[in-house]
Amino acid sequence: MGKVNLRGHIVGLVSLRALAIASAFGVMSGAVAQADLADQIAKADLGYGEYLAGECVTCHRKSGTGIPQINGIEAETFVTIMQAYRSKDLDNKVMQMMAGRLDDEQIISLAAYFSSLPE
Ligand code: HEC
Repeated sequence: MGKVNLRGHIVGLVSLRALAIASAFGVMSGAVAQADLADQIAKADLGYGEYLAGECVTCHRKSGTGIPQINGIEAETFVTIMQAYRSKDLDNKVMQMMAGRLDDEQIISLAAYFSSLPE
C-alpha cells in the first residue's frame, strides 16, 4: 500500500469494527446493517477510492474492451457485487482474486468513488 491520507478512515474503521462485533453477536437486523452501509458509503473517502481504483481501471476502461464498464454503478449494488466476488458467490476468477484482496472499508471506498463517476 502506498501513501494515502488515512485521516478520513479512522471513523469508518471504528464503526466497521463495531458492525463486525455487532453481527458476531447477532444483535443487528438486516435493516440496521443496510442503514449502516449507506452511512459508511456517505462517509467514505473518495480520494482513497480513487487511489484504490488505479488497479481496476487498467481493465475497466470506459468502453470497447469487452470488460463491463463500472462507472456510475449505484454504491450499495457495487458493494454487494464486490462482496459476492469475494465470497465466490459470483463466478469470475479475476474478480474473485481482485475482491479477495480488499477489506470492507476498501470496497466501500471504491463503491463511493465509482458511483460518483458519470456512466
Ligand atoms: C484483470 C482485469 C480486471 C481487473 C484488474 C479488475 N476487474 Fe473487475 N471485472 C473484470 C471482468 C472480466 C469482469 C466481468 C466478470 C464477469 O463476467 O463476471 C469484471 C466485473 C466487475 C464488476 C461487475 C460489473 C458488472 O456490471 O457486473 C465490478 C463491480 C468490478 N469488476 C469491479 C472491479 C474493481 C472495483 C476492481 C479493482 C479493485 C476491478 N474490478 C479490477 C476484470 C477486471
